[in-house]
Amino acid sequence: MLVLGVESSCDETAAAVVEHGGRVLSDVVHSQVAVHAPYGGVVPELASRDHLRNVGPVVRAALERAGVGIGEVDGVAVTNRPGLVGALLVGVQAAKGVAWAAGKPLVGVDHLMGHLLAAFLRRGDGDPPLPRFPFVCLLASGGHTAIYRVDAPRADAIAELGATRDDAAGEAFDKVAKLLGLGYPGGPAIDRLAATGDASRVKLAGPMASRASLEMSFSGIKTQVALLVSRGRVLGRSVREGERAGVDGGAGIAVADVCASFQSAVTGVLARKLMDAATREGVEDVVLGGGVAANSELRRRAHELGSARALRVVVPPLASCTDNAAMIAYAGAVRLADGERDGWSLTASGQTSLQRATRKGRGRRA
Ligand code: KG4
Ligand code: ZN
Repeated sequence: MLVLGVESSCDETAAAVVEHGGRVLSDVVHSQVAVHAPYGGVVPELASRDHLRNVGPVVRAALERAGVGIGEVDGVAVTNRPGLVGALLVGVQAAKGVAWAAGKPLVGVDHLMGHLLAAFLRRGDGDPPLPRFPFVCLLASGGHTAIYRVDAPRADAIAELGATRDDAAGEAFDKVAKLLGLGYPGGPAIDRLAATGDASRVKLAGPMASRASLEMSFSGIKTQVALLVSRGRVLGRSVREGERAGVDGGAGIAVADVCASFQSAVTGVLARKLMDAATREGVEDVVLGGGVAANSELRRRAHELGSARALRVVVPPLASCTDNAAMIAYAGAVRLADGERDGWSLTASGQTSLQRATRKGRGRRA
């Protein structure tokens, strides 16, 4: 079975062709970073308009690169939730048009399901081992951060074990990067600069480091960085990425050192809570997903901590972590193989279909 996937929930217009078994035949991602960079974040209306310009060419490119015609695919899968509704609608309408014209079945896919199953994609050399059910997965992206127990690839077999009470981890990376003058998106910039910094030069308190709880919080650490900046403690805030601000004689802190300390605090908590979740649930397989799973320190820590606890850690390649349509095609293939179909009345929604255990801002302490 071959499935065409379409994704437009945020600032990437993407399309891909994937086999039911997970083999990726094509994976086309058009990034809108240049559109939003001048504003320091995603502007929803500009996102919708740019999706509209690009969705046709991106779908055509995905079919071409896969070497298949639309007649050869067995179904069309599209992200219909959660995300920016105006942006989602562009993908949903495009997918409906293609599916209707070609007489193919259509399925809507929850973007979070895509991230949770992205580790099953097979891209060729360097694929990680396939996760075995049940597994625990840390989904850390720009819009969501939670740890899930996944018993089967179905929404009703996935339980949220703990989530952030406020900002998503990727949102914290983006906001801290903005405070430090590193531009948007901030995750990759902080990742690169942190490699040249010294985390021990500035102390930032770890976010919700309480041992027992699987809940998380990332707004406090962002405020700690904001305070350092507003007090003029951070040197060379406007230095270009890659250059290290001159190391002080005790008067200030280099940007790279703030990056290193922030990244170390955030990834330390994420990795430890993920492994704690595996221990608590008695499962052996641990999976990373979402854009923050592209972070080099989080990937390293997950492997380190996992092997120390004799867990099997599955870290997907970068292209499977950040937003893409291959993961949507795969999650759609699973639905189609189960005989599921959506009608032409499929709509977009800002909310996930996965059950939520932690309420933003009002989480309960485990
Ligand atoms: O999954 P994703 O591509 O889109 C959403 O569904 O949100 O995640 C995007 C997020 C952004 O906040 C971005 O800064 C972050 O992932 N990100 C990273 C890295 N690469 C992307 N965060 C930390 N380190 C990275 N290397
Ligand atoms: Zn995403």
